[in-house]
Order: sequence, then C-alpha cells, then structure tokens
Amino acid sequence: MAKSRINQYFIQVELAQDIEDPVITWKRTLSRFEIPYADCAVCTGKQACEKTSFIFLRKELPVRLANIMKEIQLLPDNLLRMPSVSLVQSWYERSFAEILEYEQADPSNYKVLEKFTSDLVTIRNRHNNVVQTMAQGMLELRENHQPDLQAERNIQYFLDRFYISRISIRMLINQHTLLFEQDTQMPPSHIGCIDPHCVIHDVITDAYENAKFLCDQYYLTSPDLVIEEYNPDNPGVKNTVVYVPSHLYHMVFELFKNSMRAVVEHYGTAADVYPSIHALVVRGKEDITIKVHDKGGGIPRSMQELLFQYMFSTAPQPPMTAISDSAPLAGYGYGLPLSRLYARYFQGDLILNSYEGYGTDAIIYLKALSNEANEVLPVFNKTSSRHYRDPGYTHDWSHTSSHHSNGKSGSNNSVHKMSST
Ligand SMILES: Nc1ncnc2c1ncn2[C@@H]1O[C@H](COP(=O)(O)OP(=O)(O)OP(=O)(O)O)[C@@H](O)[C@H]1O
Ligand SMILES: [Mg+2]
Repeated sequence: MAKSRINQYFIQVELAQDIEDPVITWKRTLSRFEIPYADCAVCTGKQACEKTSFIFLRKELPVRLANIMKEIQLLPDNLLRMPSVSLVQSWYERSFAEILEYEQADPSNYKVLEKFTSDLVTIRNRHNNVVQTMAQGMLELRENHQPDLQAERNIQYFLDRFYISRISIRMLINQHTLLFEQDTQMPPSHIGCIDPHCVIHDVITDAYENAKFLCDQYYLTSPDLVIEEYNPDNPGVKNTVVYVPSHLYHMVFELFKNSMRAVVEHYGTAADVYPSIHALVVRGKEDITIKVHDKGGGIPRSMQELLFQYMFSTAPQPPMTAISDSAPLAGYGYGLPLSRLYARYFQGDLILNSYEGYGTDAIIYLKALSNEANEVLPVFNKTSSRHYRDPGYTHDWSHTSSHHSNGKSGSNNSVHKMSST
C-alpha cells in the first residue's frame, strides 16, 4: 500500500481540523443515519438513495481508515511487530485499497453500485475478528515483553480509539449494505440497522435470556430478572428509543453476564435462591437511563479504576480461539470497556457504582433524542499524538492507591492510574 495514498486521505482530515469543530464535516447523528436520502437533490421520495450513499462512503470510509491506520503507527514498535497486530494492519490496508478503486467510478452506473455493495460485505467480513485478533496481539506482546507503564497507558488509550473507530466504520458499512444489498433480511420497521421504535424492554429480555443460558451452562443455576419501567409522559407504556438494537443488546448482555457471575459467585452455586437482578428503564427529557442492579457483593473501591481497562478480569482466562465459537461467561476483560464504547459512540455513557459487600449498579445512558446522538469519533491530531509521546505519569500526591492483582498472567494489574479515554 502506497503510504502517500493513506497520507492523502489523512491530510483531508487534518485540513478539516483547521475549522472550528474538527469533525463537523464528517460525523453523523443517529437521525442523519435514519435519512440517508436527505442530501440527495434527485430523490424527492422517502426512499434511500444508493448513489448518494455511495458518493459519501467512497470518500468517508478511506478517511476513517486512513485516520486510524496513522494512529496504529504510533503504537510501541514491539507491539507492531506482533503477528496478530501485523495481520490486523494488513486487513486495514487491503480494505483501504479496495475502496480507493471506486475513487473515479461512475456513480450512475448500477453495476458499479452493485459491486461496491458486495465489496463492502467482503470488507465487513474480513474485519469480523478484529477485536479478538487485536486482543491476541496484546497477549503476544505480554508473552514476549513486559510492557512498561507508558506502553500500557498508550495501548489502553489506543484501543478505545481503535475500537470506537471500528464501531463507526461498521455502522456506515452496515447501513449501506442493509439498505441496498439485495435479499437482505431486515425487519420492515428498521431503517438499515436502526430501529426507530426500539422497545428497550424487549432488548433487555432477549439479552437476559441469552446471558442466563450461558450462566446456566456454567453454574447450572442463575438469578431471576425483574424489569421496572418509568415513562413519565406515557405511564404504563414501554419505553422506546431510536437506536441500533444490536448495540444496546451488546451492552446489556455484557452487564447481565457480569451481574449473574457476581451473584452466583457471591452466594455460591449451592444456594437455593438468589436475589434477583433488577433492570430499571427511565425516560427523561435528555437521557434514557438503563440501570442494571445486582446484589453480587460489589467491587472494592481500589479495583474500580481497573474495570474499564482492556484485559482486566477476575475470571480465569478462556482460550482466545473460543471467542467467536462459543462465548464464555467472563474472562476476556473486554465486556465493560467495549460496552462503554458502544454507549459513548452515540453520546451516551456507561458507568459502574459499586458498594463493596453488597452489590453493583451498572448504568447505561443513551440520548433520548436522536438528533442529539452525534457520532463520537477519534480525531488524530497534535493532542492525540502527544498522548503517545508523553513520557508518562509521575505522582504528584504523597500516596497512591494500590490495586488488587487479578492473579491472571498477562492481565493488567498496574498500580498506577491509567487514562482509558
Ligand atoms: N456486577 C459486577 N459485580 C462484581 N464485579 C464485577 C461486576 N461487573 C464487573 N465486575 C468485575 O469487573 C471485571 C471486568 O469486567 P468485564 O466485563 O470487562 O470483563 P470479564 O467479565 O471479566 O470478561 P468478559 O470480557 O468476558 O466480559 C470482572 O472480571 C469483575 O471482576
Ligand atoms: Mg464481563
């Protein structure tokens, strides 16, 4: 891959940063994803315009790919040399090159549009295993070197940005392919991967059932679920939101797995009954809040800073190869950090409040209004590159808290604070 081509698309981003809001020209809101025909002068009807989407994506996808490929290059050298990381890089380079083939293509030619859509499907499939392959790269690094604090800090910082970039790229690709690929199986009420009337209660129930299945498999028992709704404008009516149901599912599924494990471990597998897990769904003017509450004994305060670090887990580490085959209940240390990225991607958030000796509240915030749900994207600029060069963190207080080790080889048990955002 010619470096200059990556730079060319990367420079477009740099130029965009000269204007006040550096990403305003290319980020999208949830409501904008809902109306992919909006800036098409030709389409007056309510149908999505494939040509408009094609013209947008053939520019936008290489920009996002170039942006993150530049950032990969700032990772520590020894990490870049790990076979899994090189493999991921080669996937990005290949996909970048494939999309560039459409730079001069005629958008009015339906064969071009058809091939573009099928190429996007190929690209999406190529990148299916990026998360686990990157995770494998981190393990390879730790097997071969003991990364220093600065390297650890950079890796955590990078992974948040890399994975949110990946979520955004997949969102663009899914939206296009679901709308324009022939024979896609999409519920009629959906617009691409967005459900304009996503019933939160139904997603929660679905995620709970699947987490319960894993929990029953692992422990032969599981806690019940109680769902409570608060919908002040329409009492008694289930809350809905404009959202990507698969993103919401991902978040609550991870929270249920964590809560179930905590509850069963806390009371022991021989217990006759377990305190139920409670989910609360509340619609406010600005936020939709989903709280998952368990009485699983909570987490010591000294451990709280580690929860959102990639690869921090108190569960035994499952084999990496099993990630895509059969999901284990816990152990990769990716559940919380990735779920938080899904929440943040559309301007929401995910936090944990824990009460050691009692239980945990995990809270997901979503934007109640889809026109406020802007994409959050990493911007590669001087501030971000400084992060990688910064010589590190020195203590400016007399005492720092000591965190518990999870006792797992290759896990992150640093005693220092690390920024994960
Ligand atoms: N509800 C909870 N109660 C107690 N501890 C929790 C809870 N949620 C998370 N944790 C702690 O946080 C750690 C990290 O959670 P996370 O979901 O990121 O990873 P994991 O569950 O270990 O593995 P996986 O990536 O497979 O989900 C867990 O190992 C556990 O120690
Ligand atoms: Mg988990």
